[in-house]
Amino acid sequence: MNQHIAEARRILAANDRGGYTVPTDRLYPFQWNWDSAFVAMGFALYDVERAYRELERLAEGQWADGMIPHIVFHQPSDTYFPGPAVWRTPNPVPTSGITQPPVFAIALRKLHEAGGDRARSLALYEAALRWHRWWYRARDPDGTGLVALLHPWESGSDNSPAWDVALARVPTTTATPVARKDTGHVSADMRPRDADYHRFIHLVDTYADCGWNPIRQWQKAPFKVADIQTTAILLKAGEDLEVLARRFDRPAEADEIAALNDRTRRAILAQWRPQLSRFVSRDLVSGADVEAATQAGFMPLLSLDLDRAIVEAIVAEMKVWSDGLKVAFPTTKPGTSAWEPKRYWRGPAWAIIDWLLIDGLMRNRQPAAAAALRRSAIAAIEAEGFAEYFDPVTGEGCGGLGFSWTAAAYMVLAE
Ligand code: DGY
Repeated sequence: MNQHIAEARRILAANDRGGYTVPTDRLYPFQWNWDSAFVAMGFALYDVERAYRELERLAEGQWADGMIPHIVFHQPSDTYFPGPAVWRTPNPVPTSGITQPPVFAIALRKLHEAGGDRARSLALYEAALRWHRWWYRARDPDGTGLVALLHPWESGSDNSPAWDVALARVPTTTATPVARKDTGHVSADMRPRDADYHRFIHLVDTYADCGWNPIRQWQKAPFKVADIQTTAILLKAGEDLEVLARRFDRPAEADEIAALNDRTRRAILAQWRPQLSRFVSRDLVSGADVEAATQAGFMPLLSLDLDRAIVEAIVAEMKVWSDGLKVAFPTTKPGTSAWEPKRYWRGPAWAIIDWLLIDGLMRNRQPAAAAALRRSAIAAIEAEGFAEYFDPVTGEGCGGLGFSWTAAAYMVLAE
């Protein structure tokens, strides 16, 4: 085992809080949804039992309506804002009231295929299916095939330029005092701005006032974006769930999932914009395309077998974005007005995004582009350690350190 893999395993062990893994100490002291799914895939390489625990502990936070929330507050901590008192959710286990990209089912299939246990897989499959149905029911009530986010935190790409236009409509007034803790842990110039935080909390207040009822939230939401990245991840989750449903001899469920997958596949394809060489999200309040140049536009690689012309256009465009950078893949197109190479989701490279794009490039028969991206992610981590993300220009490791999903990504990519 190389020294970096040994270090990655040490990080996951150090971030273990009892069957679940915090993203990093202090900055993120609870269980985060998509972080845990990536971490579970890392554990699956050497400890399948522990990988199952990660997903099982996350599923403890599942709501009665099927949503798996973005944070499960298993135990108190005073190093994070906003905590459970701000969220005011009705769930018996304290959680946030919003969700995150559904990587869970993708991880579950990996665990199951890594020699998993049928009974444990089946229980988690049932949780994943309830969540899958929730996405379509709560976040695509009109049956378009694209799912909407009601809060930028649901994307995991919190302050992406993709949200700038939609978020500008959200007032900066809050009933809850905004008492940020994140900027006490890492430099403020690596984090979302204060105005973003005020809007994030305005949205939390608004939905808490709806009693977290999905129908009321949908009616009241001042922010509603059908996100191409989340939808692409949902489709991959749907593909993996369908495979599991057939393995578990649940043909009616498999057919139900397959029909949703078909609808979503068609909807994603309709979001291709040849003039941009990208797919786009849709702002459901204005009805406009989200044209901000972010990594999300390439994520359909992950879950669609795209036509050759589209794949070639994407690969050429991705090359333009990466040209001259020390670390790929940038989360905003370099040189655009929104580009900030150190500020969280406004430019930095993230190992988990690379991982998803690499899988997508491999699926679409682009081994050379996938290998280049893989080398870039591995070299960045080996040079700088397991940082939350990397400045693509300088290669500097930024944000939180000893980061769980970077450790998991390294193990998977270095395999
Ligand atoms: C944060 O607090 O920065 C998180 O990304 C929200 O999930």
